[in-house]
Amino acid sequence: MTMTADKSITKQVEELKARLNAAGVAYYIDSKPIMSDALYDELYQKLVLFERAYPELVTPDSPTQRVGAPASEGFKKIHHGTPMLSLDNIFDLKETLAFHARIQRSAANPDSIVYTAEPKFDGLAVKIQYDADGFFESASTRGDGLIGEDVTANVRTIRSVPLKVIGGALTVTGEVVMEKATFARLNAQRVAAGDSPWATPRHAAAGGLKQLDPRDTAARCLDFYAYGMENREMSGQYQALKTLGDLGFKTSRTLAVSTGSVKIIGPFIKTMHEERQTLPVEIDGVVIKVDNLDLQKKLGATSHAPRWATAYKFPAEEKTTLLRGVDFQVGRSGTITPVALLEPVSIGGTTISRVSLHNFDQVERLDVQIGDTVCVRRAADVIPEITGVDLSKRPADAAPLNRPKVCPECGTTLAKEEDAVAIRCPNSACPGRRIAWLQHFVRRDVYNIDGFGEKLAEMLVKRALVEEPYDIFKLTEADLLGLDGIGEKSAAKLVAAIQSRRIINFERFLMGLNIPLLGHHASKLIAKNFIDILDLMGVVKTIPSSFGIIRLASIEGLGNAVAESIGQGLLALEAAEKLPRWLAAVKIRYPQKPKAKVKARHSKTYVITGTLSEPRKEIEGAIIRSGCIVGGSVSKQTDFLVCGDKPGSKKAKAEKLGIPIITEQQLMVQLSIPPTGPETKRLVKL
Ligand code: IVH
Repeated sequence: MTMTADKSITKQVEELKARLNAAGVAYYIDSKPIMSDALYDELYQKLVLFERAYPELVTPDSPTQRVGAPASEGFKKIHHGTPMLSLDNIFDLKETLAFHARIQRSAANPDSIVYTAEPKFDGLAVKIQYDADGFFESASTRGDGLIGEDVTANVRTIRSVPLKVIGGALTVTGEVVMEKATFARLNAQRVAAGDSPWATPRHAAAGGLKQLDPRDTAARCLDFYAYGMENREMSGQYQALKTLGDLGFKTSRTLAVSTGSVKIIGPFIKTMHEERQTLPVEIDGVVIKVDNLDLQKKLGATSHAPRWATAYKFPAEEKTTLLRGVDFQVGRSGTITPVALLEPVSIGGTTISRVSLHNFDQVERLDVQIGDTVCVRRAADVIPEITGVDLSKRPADAAPLNRPKVCPECGTTLAKEEDAVAIRCPNSACPGRRIAWLQHFVRRDVYNIDGFGEKLAEMLVKRALVEEPYDIFKLTEADLLGLDGIGEKSAAKLVAAIQSRRIINFERFLMGLNIPLLGHHASKLIAKNFIDILDLMGVVKTIPSSFGIIRLASIEGLGNAVAESIGQGLLALEAAEKLPRWLAAVKIRYPQKPKAKVKARHSKTYVITGTLSEPRKEIEGAIIRSGCIVGGSVSKQTDFLVCGDKPGSKKAKAEKLGIPIITEQQLMVQLSIPPTGPETKRLVKL
């Protein structure tokens, strides 16, 4: 028999929810706690017990509903009803006045325009929908402006997002950010755990928002600042921000000015710039918006930005500090990157202690030495960089930053790249390279293995538990238990996380191979243009004859250098007989190809005549490998005659039958794609 809640229980649950929600608002929105953590936990647990006993009392706005189940595979796409636009940037006050003059030209009353000026939060734009009853319904990222990713489960975990608003349906836009204090706290934890710190709060927020398991998003303690709303009667932006605040959202300090006093936007920007350090969240400028909604509508938008708003971007900030030393980092393909170790310096609220110097040419260009006073620059959404050296402060004992001769990880003599910019460790068994490759392998956009930090990668390689990244699929709980800081629970969790990624899509599989230049873009193109790994290898194996490379390079969007690098990388894999080991370790999931496309690959018959640049057998092999047929003689069944130097009688016969005659180059292009189908034609670069 199932029990239903009586009135007194329903009332108690309602009260618990109300008290916990009020405490949440006081804590997360107003930063003025009204309840001790211990009491909060106690009430929360009570609510959990009640809800377990009476599931019908669970409502979507209950504080227990913030963390849901993990999303199964990536994020669903969401079509934005109205596009989510970006903003045009301006950089000085003159441009502010030019913006004003432009608006005046379109306004019926040029002397009574009202603007709002509000901080420009440095995070990620998110659109949140509330349903007709005011319940939090969905949330999406901006994506390309038209289609975003469905991050509902993740945004639900953000405490400053109300789960219920009064007044029914509502669309709210705003920015997901990580507050500076949270960033400092979590980064310190990361460093203590041996993970590399996030570069900026924005990076940390972006990573947090895209977690596949909402519990991981929740752990990042993200925040949401609202700056826009739709579908409520509203006179203008200023009132909208006030209403958003009343509804329980975090909003920003906002200035409203009219035409007569438009010049005070300047001092407001200056104040915001000066106060930026003390704000809880990173801002990278001030957004100036026309307040009146009718005028906004009249002004409209370009394809990417509204004409009624503009973003005044703060200039990048610079500070000087001491360069205390240098670390030589070994990358996954062996490239040695010098990293400057700095006396920690706070720029725009972020403490910086390590800055990449990229390569040794850069070191020479900057003429930087250990002991120098260097100028560090950071624009809000950009990785910090060293822009110069104060030579007047160079101490007598400054030490030049010499190129290392041997690998700092394995001692192998370093080699210089042909282009003379990078120096590399050529030892493919170098532990530094292996660690870097493993770190790449487990990344969110490659195999996406949860909880696999930098420190773990290092321990596994150094203890020879992992040589090639796919060795991680053989790891057992017992292997992990012996490692520093890994208990039974985390060992079991890690093994489960690893095993759950054994089935991997083609694109991620390709990225995991660690072939130079085979990144996101190239992997996507390859996965789209080949049926499977064998199809791809079939083409690549013709590479000594340059045939395969031309076929790869003829994929639109894949340049020659990229094609060459991918080809050589795959050939090296083949030569080392590594491919079968990869294929034994993982199962590749291939994208569904339209049937017509596969069929079309098998439908053309080529006949060859004359001397071609490669032995006839090579070319015939390539035709066959791409699923087409090689005909011995010209007939009505022949689709194309491939004609080389000094053609034989086949040419005359083809001309007589009206069969198209193509060159060897044209054949190569044709073989790189299915010969028919309108959507595939777009892939050819002729
Ligand atoms: S209004 C229709 N207001 O800046 C365009 N955007 O660089 C609505 N941003 O994509 C944007 N703070 O993600 C607006 N107070 C603010 C903002 C803000 C940050 C972001 C937003 C936008 C980006 C453009």
